[in-house]
Amino acid sequence: MERLEYTRNQQAADVLASHYGRTPVAFVRSFGCQQSVNDGERLKGVLEDVGFTIAEEADGADVILFNTCAVREHAEQRAFGNIGALKALKDQNPALLIGVCGCMTEQKAVVDKIKKSYPYVDMALGANVADELPAILVEKLTTRKKALRVPQKRETIVEDIPQKRASGIKAFLPIMYGCDNYCSYCIVPYVRGRERSRKPAAIQKEFEELLAAGYKDITLLGQNVNSYGKGLKEKLDFSDLLTQLAAVPGEYKLRFMTSHPKDATRKMIDTIAENPRLCKHVHLPIQSGSNNILSRMNRKYAVEDYLALVKYAKETCPEMTFSTDIMVGFPGETEEDFEETMQLCKEVGFTQIFTFIYSKRSGTKAAELPDETTHRAKAARITRLKAQQEEQIADVAKGWLGKTYVCLVEGPARDDKTLLSARLDNNATVEFAGDKALVGHFVPITMQSIKGAILQGTLKQN
Ligand code: 5AD
Ligand code: SF4
Repeated sequence: MERLEYTRNQQAADVLASHYGRTPVAFVRSFGCQQSVNDGERLKGVLEDVGFTIAEEADGADVILFNTCAVREHAEQRAFGNIGALKALKDQNPALLIGVCGCMTEQKAVVDKIKKSYPYVDMALGANVADELPAILVEKLTTRKKALRVPQKRETIVEDIPQKRASGIKAFLPIMYGCDNYCSYCIVPYVRGRERSRKPAAIQKEFEELLAAGYKDITLLGQNVNSYGKGLKEKLDFSDLLTQLAAVPGEYKLRFMTSHPKDATRKMIDTIAENPRLCKHVHLPIQSGSNNILSRMNRKYAVEDYLALVKYAKETCPEMTFSTDIMVGFPGETEEDFEETMQLCKEVGFTQIFTFIYSKRSGTKAAELPDETTHRAKAARITRLKAQQEEQIADVAKGWLGKTYVCLVEGPARDDKTLLSARLDNNATVEFAGDKALVGHFVPITMQSIKGAILQGTLKQN
């Protein structure tokens, strides 16, 4: 596997500068998971590095990039809708360059559809393209040839790509790319390629740079962080990496996502329990509470294994919380299977559940399975699960009320902008009244009540 270092493409920067004769403006919009958001931060970083200003809106931009997600059909439809809406901008400004990149464009059918139905799209580029972007833009501007790439799943790791992050407090730090698991429903291994780990020294360097720049909450990213280290010369696993990073002095929190239950270990739980800089929370997607469905999903663990790990975690570190992903309506899922999912969610007491209705992805194994459950029945299952979860989180949160926790203040609250929003170590969100100057600081907050899944608290005065 190829490993490269990013270097600024000065030649491209010069061509762009003389072509535009002013500071050109780019707009980048990302859809999908944290990995995709982080890819978008790199696209922006590289564009800035070769002379662009990054705009908050598409209107008036010289280059527009849509960084897309392919995990569900709905995401793809939305992306096509958004690409369709760009036609008006292109009509107004024929010099505008429109690019589509990310997971969707790693599928040949998508590139063909763009070619056929969205002829004003100039570039379809794939998911690992940031470092090559300046050269592609120059080629496009100088030859006016369409840059429609054949999907290639580029499996190169390029270190040191500049990043323009959305926040000055929270940052994503990828530790690995790709996925080798081939869950039968999932498109990711087909679009993001083989699993590959970054070198620990490169991760450590970026981590220390983030801390030096004042970041307080860092999330390590990977499709399956628990298999970190496979294929590296250095002999270390994910827990070792956590220990190594969290040994760096400073006031900060370290999180990670996503864990795969088949690879999550007791060693990881022990590591989290022992180190105060590691958040006491694990996002551990179970997908279904039925062993029959799990086996058809090719998940390679049983409900009993999952429950045993959660039990161990609760004994080792009682304050540790779990969140999960649940997929409803996988082909052949019966009411009984779904009841088992409801039961499992009750038993674990998740603090958050992300629910998804199964979406057929062509090319995956599950796409060949007959799917006879109606959409209506699947939606009804989701509604039941959400109702149960709402009751359950209120129950779990009772244990936190009246207690004071040190929380990181992240910014204004989502709805009521007169309040601030902060995050507990266990990943729960609390809103409270306080001075804006507290943003980016760790402060003690006493939990008073819970509304939906959001805690309401008060700042503890010394
Ligand atoms: N349909 C619905 N949900 C999916 N996910 C992944 N693939 C699909 C699909 N084909 C969900 C899984 C995963 C989350 C990121 O997205 O629950 O954990
Ligand atoms: Fe992320 Fe998966 Fe969407 Fe790709 S398909 S952007 S990996 S959620």
